[in-house]
Amino acid sequence: MTQRSRIAIVTGASRGIGRAIAMELAREGAGLVLAARSADALARVAEEAEKAGASAILAVAADLARPGEPERVVSAAVERFGGVDILVNNAGATKRGDFLTLSDADHLDGFALKYHATVRFCRAAWPHLVAAGGTVVNIAGIAAQTPDAEFTIGGPVNSALLNFTKALARRALEEGVRVNALCPGHIVTDRLHTRIEVHAKQHGLTLEAARESLRAHYGIHRFGEVGDIAGMVAFLCSPQASYVHGTTIVVDGGATPGL
Ligand SMILES: NC(=O)c1ccc[n+]([C@@H]2O[C@H](COP(=O)([O-])OP(=O)(O)OC[C@H]3O[C@@H](n4cnc5c(N)ncnc54)[C@H](OP(=O)(O)O)[C@@H]3O)[C@@H](O)[C@H]2O)c1
Repeated sequence: MTQRSRIAIVTGASRGIGRAIAMELAREGAGLVLAARSADALARVAEEAEKAGASAILAVAADLARPGEPERVVSAAVERFGGVDILVNNAGATKRGDFLTLSDADHLDGFALKYHATVRFCRAAWPHLVAAGGTVVNIAGIAAQTPDAEFTIGGPVNSALLNFTKALARRALEEGVRVNALCPGHIVTDRLHTRIEVHAKQHGLTLEAARESLRAHYGIHRFGEVGDIAGMVAFLCSPQASYVHGTTIVVDGGATPGL
């Protein structure tokens, strides 16, 4: 009897860290459900993932900040593949800046995508994850544990995700699902490029000097690559991590100063 491939839902898979996670799982032969807003970008990732070895791919264009959309993605996955083994909640976009300039809408938007979509995905996928003995990885961020005055939305969203992950993991113990969180540090994606541009403008620096100034400020040898995160996610989803449960893995090159 042939075993069916593991089916993984990856949110925010159209670029950056989510794309890298999708490619890593593709190389392991997983079936992929890719979700993000941009249908074109998803189609490009799907093509690459197929070449990399994904056993099957379903791309669903969706604004995951909207109620009902995470549930629609899970339904489409189950209809196409009959189950879900892996759920990687990665989609996120929280505005940074001076606290006094951030509006209620900015705060609500930040929570709507990164926190509420994660909760909705977990709830909708739960019976399928239980049936499969599956696993969840919630991508948070190091500001969860190291607050930053310029990051008063992202930090609290990430802290809430760690709390939610731990709470869900308690329940999951009885149901045979593994649930963990991963906090990336400063990783080279579009988000980091934007941060470097803003820093350069604020301090009258070239892009190269701004990049170096930020690196030195964070006290790290280098910025992280998306592969640094994707490799750890693949490990967390693998049988080698079968005893890793209800915890937070920090992948930040040593940027976190405290415990
Ligand atoms: N990069 C870092 O240094 C860093 C550090 C700590 C934590 N993180 C976390 O890691 C995750 C990925 O970050 P990244 O740097 O890879 O970000 P990114 O390059 O900006 O990619 C974000 C992804 O989320 C999708 N997305 C954004 N808004 C969405 C929406 N409303 N509905 C559906 N999908 C949406 C984007 O696709 P569309 O635009 O096509 O929708 C894209 O695929 C985020 O949760 C972020 O907070 C990143």
